[in-house]
Amino acid sequence: MTVIKPVFHHVTIKTSRLQEMVDWYCKVVGVEVNFQDEYNAWTTNDEANHRLAFLSVPGLEDDADKAKHTGMHHSAFEYASFDELMVSYERLRDEGILPAFSLDHGLTISLYYKDPEGNYVELQSDNFGDWKQSSHFMRTSKDFQSNPIGTFFDPEKVCQAHRAGESFATLQPAIRAGKFQPDGVSAMGGLPASDAGTPVRLGS
Ligand SMILES: [Fe+2]
Repeated sequence: MTVIKPVFHHVTIKTSRLQEMVDWYCKVVGVEVNFQDEYNAWTTNDEANHRLAFLSVPGLEDDADKAKHTGMHHSAFEYASFDELMVSYERLRDEGILPAFSLDHGLTISLYYKDPEGNYVELQSDNFGDWKQSSHFMRTSKDFQSNPIGTFFDPEKVCQAHRAGESFATLQPAIRAGKFQPDGVSAMGGLPASDAGTPVRLGS
């Protein structure tokens, strides 16, 4: 039987920090509030009535071992270009908001931030600028097959190289090859990459 495919519409997050979460997503991805009361908020950054909602019913507790528990790893937002991603990185950096870790997945350049509840939010740009091409890469590339998680990089080093005039066409293969690796061991989801098992299945 044919599956009528619905369009992905929104995510709702439980929070005990309603205003902090709304303010953070406003700042990071430009959502606007369509409705908010004492315990709830519905926000969007496009034409949909809401894309990100927040429920803060009384009695919610933080999960001290969130990183060790199953559940959603991250949500993701895509810019139209690598340049937009870098401009946004600089804007957030200047406001004191920095990625927890950054990866070149082969199909995207991805910066992972942590929201006030400790949820990861991926800001990305497509390495091909085209979903058909990046999907083809994902399905067929030996490079992706051998390294599906990706290569860690230091976003500040990459941003500086970009600002110095290095084109994305030469920069991206260098990032993927590990020429902009961060100092120290990067962590994904609370576990150091080196301790997270091999192969690590984070997905992009
Ligand atoms: Fe992702």
